[in-house]
Amino acid sequence: VKRVRVHHLAQAKHEGRRITMLTAYDSITARIFDAAGVDALLVGDSLGDNVLGHANTIPVTLDEMIPPARAVVRAAKRAFVIVDLPFGSYEDSATRAFESAVRVMKETGADAVKIEGGRRIAEQVHTLTQAGIPVIGHLGFTPQSENRFGGKRVQGRGAGAQELLADALALQGAGAAAIVLEMVPAPLAEQVTAQLEVPTIGIGAGAACDGQVLVWTDMAGMGEWSPRFARRFAEIGKALGDAASDYIDAVRDGSFPAPEHGYQS
Ligand code: KIV
Ligand code: NA
Repeated sequence: VKRVRVHHLAQAKHEGRRITMLTAYDSITARIFDAAGVDALLVGDSLGDNVLGHANTIPVTLDEMIPPARAVVRAAKRAFVIVDLPFGSYEDSATRAFESAVRVMKETGADAVKIEGGRRIAEQVHTLTQAGIPVIGHLGFTPQSENRFGGKRVQGRGAGAQELLADALALQGAGAAAIVLEMVPAPLAEQVTAQLEVPTIGIGAGAACDGQVLVWTDMAGMGEWSPRFARRFAEIGKALGDAASDYIDAVRDGSFPAPEHGYQS
């Protein structure tokens, strides 16, 4: 299998092939999604709310991102692996962003890093790109700024549309390889996608983006609840719960293990 490399993202846009991305936080899901043919795996800082049990992504540290990222990189044979730089690891300077991104690249073997924000982090994007690190941008609802937004709210409405477009152009100008658009009105995402040379990857941003990303637990129906923008392609949470309760029953009633699960002397 030929690995997906950074130039394939732009190539997909120009050839009109939609880019597919899912999050993964461990080698089990990374192996399954890679084998299914997903183009990119995102080791998202959504690790915080989806794996570590936090309310949001804010508490996630760079140290916590490294082991999951290593596991995903080890499991991915074809997919392009992107690792989020977490809150507090890049915002205040290009130097801090560089140190954080270098850690990710050296310690995990990832293909790219992703950071949130537009013009305010254009210098970081430029510095990382110049250093040889592909950078994916993230605009619209950026979860690390949830407290400033006052919740998980749609961004880019009204005057926010021009701001978002300016941010997208700034990221592209600084060298971003692709831009995630999260929770923005579909017509705006379509307009941004048309104006950019680099691909857009949407989540709650309509069908006109050059690709789509979902948090895998939302995609697979792991939780009781999924955001409006996610489609539950399966009910794996229920299937897993049913498997566990069948196991518990079988152990309690003595039907597991059966003779064929054991060893003879
Ligand atoms: O952390 C994450 O899962 C993300 C996606 C929602 C794009 O950043
Ligand atoms: Na993220």
